[in-house]
Amino acid sequence: MPAIRVLEEGQRYKLDGSDDALFYSVPRFVHHLDAGFRARLTQLYRERIPPCAQVLDLMSSWVSHLPDDIHYDRVVGHGLNEEELTANPRLDRHWVQNLNRDQTLPLDDDSTDCTLIVAGWQYLQQPEAVAAELLRITRPKGQVIVAFSNRMFFTKAPQIWTDGDDRDHLSYVAEVLMAQGWPKPEIVAESTRGGGVMGLFGGNGDPFFAVVATKPLG
Ligand SMILES: C[S@@+](CC[C@H](N)C(=O)[O-])C[C@H]1O[C@@H](n2cnc3c(N)ncnc32)[C@H](O)[C@@H]1O
Repeated sequence: MPAIRVLEEGQRYKLDGSDDALFYSVPRFVHHLDAGFRARLTQLYRERIPPCAQVLDLMSSWVSHLPDDIHYDRVVGHGLNEEELTANPRLDRHWVQNLNRDQTLPLDDDSTDCTLIVAGWQYLQQPEAVAAELLRITRPKGQVIVAFSNRMFFTKAPQIWTDGDDRDHLSYVAEVLMAQGWPKPEIVAESTRGGGVMGLFGGNGDPFFAVVATKPLG
């Protein structure tokens, strides 16, 4: 079934329209988010994901931010850079796929307990089709957790993201999910403590935002 359209065509436009695979062809073994953000994300995962879960880390890299001391039943990774995914110690397996070219996920219906998308949604040009696929592969009572901050590769983000502020981003992600049949998601919006001396004096780090949706039973 085709996904319910939310975006106008112009809102999918990005400054760098070249193949995303080119942009991600060189591995980036860096952290895209600061330590405070990452710690809050790991805490959220600890609270929300049971150890028996089958986890999908969509739009992943060399790190998944899952708690080190919890062994999940299976963690599957997806991204655009083979070297980064191979280096990710949390992944049991992974695959590479450009979601702006093909949104069909190679996973069975009702096969996943929790999908994570960290600092990735902002690059999706066809988010409706991805959200519909996530609903298909998620088990009843399973979740999708979309986390992001206020950073982006500007030229690679579509206009719907570059034109919006943090509040717009939260409502946009929720709107796309709900349009595809996800119930109204929970929104998490928090500040984090900055690192180093600035943090000691109360300076903030990367703001933490998450949209958490749970697939209904039946
Ligand atoms: C800022 S990085 C975040 C990576 C990782 N989730 C993390 O927390 O470090 C953005 C990621 O989005 C993924 N990505 C960007 N554009 C994509 C596309 N068109 N198709 C599939 N994945 C894409 C890439 O895997 C890239 O590593």
